[in-house]
Parts: sequence; C-alpha cells; structure tokens
Amino acid sequence: MIAVETLVNRPYVEKVCQVAPVLTIVNRKGGAGKTSAAHNIAGVWGTWGIRVCLVDLDTAFNLSEACGYPEELRVHGGAWLASGTPEPWPVPNMPNCALVPSGAQLASGIERMEKLAIDRERYLGKILTPLRHRFDVLLLDTKPDLDISVTGALAAATHVLATALTLPQPIYGVVRSLGLVDDLREGVPDLKVIGFLPMAYNTRGLRPAALGSLVEMAQEYGVTCFPPIPYTEHVGKESQTHVPVALTYRNAPVGQHYRYAAALIGDHLGLTVPTEWLDRGRRLQEQMMEEVLGT
Ligand SMILES: Nc1ncnc2c1ncn2[C@@H]1O[C@H](COP(=O)(O)OP(=O)(O)OP(=O)(O)O)[C@@H](O)[C@H]1O
Ligand SMILES: [Mg+2]
Repeated sequence: MIAVETLVNRPYVEKVCQVAPVLTIVNRKGGAGKTSAAHNIAGVWGTWGIRVCLVDLDTAFNLSEACGYPEELRVHGGAWLASGTPEPWPVPNMPNCALVPSGAQLASGIERMEKLAIDRERYLGKILTPLRHRFDVLLLDTKPDLDISVTGALAAATHVLATALTLPQPIYGVVRSLGLVDDLREGVPDLKVIGFLPMAYNTRGLRPAALGSLVEMAQEYGVTCFPPIPYTEHVGKESQTHVPVALTYRNAPVGQHYRYAAALIGDHLGLTVPTEWLDRGRRLQEQMMEEVLGT
C-alpha cells in the first residue's frame, strides 16, 4: 500500500497496480432483492472500512432513494451516463459509501448507449474505470428488464452475483440471468459468476424448496449459494431513515446474516473482511449445504 496523494493529488490510499473489483448484481425477474442486497452489503462493507461506490443503473432509482439521494437533485440524477462523467455522492448515513445516482436523466444516458456505433457494451465500463482507482469496490445495481444498461453492467463487471427471493419465480429469473452471463462470458472471459444470494428466507411455504433448488442449481453451475438473508418485517422502514436494515438491526438475524454474506462475498472479491464473520459465514454455509443436500 502506498499513499498516492503526492503522485496524483488525491486524498486516498491505493493498492499498487490494483484496481477495485466491480460487482454487478443481476436477476432478470423484478423484485428479486437486487437493490436491497446492494444497499445492505454496501452498508456493512462501509462499516468495515471498505470504500464502496454504489452505482444505481435502474431508471426506477430505488437504490438512490434508499440511500437518501435528495429529491431536488433527482431531476438531474443519472446525467452522468450520457456525459460520461460519474460523480459519486457521499451517502450521509452509510460510512465509506458513495453513490453514483439514478434519476430523471438516466434513461437518456441509456438511449445514448444504445446509439453508440462501436463497443456500446464497453462504454459503461470505460466511464467507470477512474472510480476503480478511488474506491475499494464498485457495486452495480441493475434493472430487471434487459437493455444495454444491464449488458453494459455485466460487461463492466469483474464479478456477478444473482440475488433471488426464495420463491419459484425469482429463481427462473436467475436461470435467465445465467443464460445472459453465459452469452457474455465469451466476450468477457475474466468475468466471474460468484453465485446466488437467497433473500427474504423463512421456513414457511415454498421457500425451503426454493432454497433447495437454488443450492442444486449452484452446484450444477459450479458457483456458490450463500447462506440466505432471513425474511424481516423491518424492511421498508429504512425508507425514512435511509440506513440499511443490516446496520439498524445489527444484532437481529437480518443484521447478522448480511454480515456473513458481506464477508463471504467480499472474500470472493479479494476485499479484506473480518475473519470472525468470514469463519462464521463459512461454517453457516457448510451447515446449509448439509441440511439442504443431506450430505
Ligand atoms: N430480507 C427481506 N425480508 C423481507 N422482504 C424483503 C427482504 N429483502 C427484500 N425484501 C423485499 O422484496 C422486495 C423486492 O426487493 P428489491 O426492491 O430489493 O428487489 P429488486 O430486485 O431490486 O427489484 P427491481 O427488479 O424492481 O429493481 C421489496 O419489497 C423488499 O422490501
Ligand atoms: Mg431494484
């Protein structure tokens, strides 16, 4: 690690010759927990001193709202995509987290991407590159319907994570997303699909069976199925406070499980995460595999 202020006049420390990984969260089913996972995992990483840049690539700007991006700025929100100059906004209630926001202007940026004659899939990755020198990780939240913003986010990614509410429909979304990732892998050989994060889990109804399907699918695909984030009644309350539930309810199961997920996923990305949470997360994952697969 060297201080680079003297070299490029920027007040941060950078790993020599290393740029931050880019994690893109996908599921081609709407309401699959993509935004919730991005908000909460970023929140946890931030409390561990990891500098996170969230990028809201959804024209519905749910992530920007969750982070408390001011309503009066939303009219210009997303203008960075057309201009090619993303400006991270420091998120007030999430230490070490900044947001490249969405808003009324994101759609015109997506139109601009559509019209690029050459390398339109690479455009997003190119304009985000400078941020990979200023942060430890970039976390991209995507929209469910497929357009150039999603394929661009996958082409910009070093790693991909698919979230799935543990219900049958979002799982089909994972399958469709994986088809998409497969298509892109040819053009982006280094892209790593790290796995699935099951969301809003409880032992009622179809959820255990859905978790079983996800675990089996992960095994077939050779990726990880992370221990599920529990269902919680607290979701939604953060729309007032803009603090992720994982931070507000840190000692509740939802807070703890987001820490396991943040540690396990962070480890896949090469981030420095607390060994305590990583070890506990690994044990929990083994336990889940034993329970689900009966091994
Ligand atoms: N742990 C949880 N417990 C209960 N509900 C949850 C949990 N996590 C997410 N949800 C709920 O699931 C719904 C979908 O979540 P979210 O908005 O994160 O999905 P999404 O994939 O980003 O959706 P979209 O595709 O519309 O962007 C939301 O209503 C959210 O509050
Ligand atoms: Mg969303």
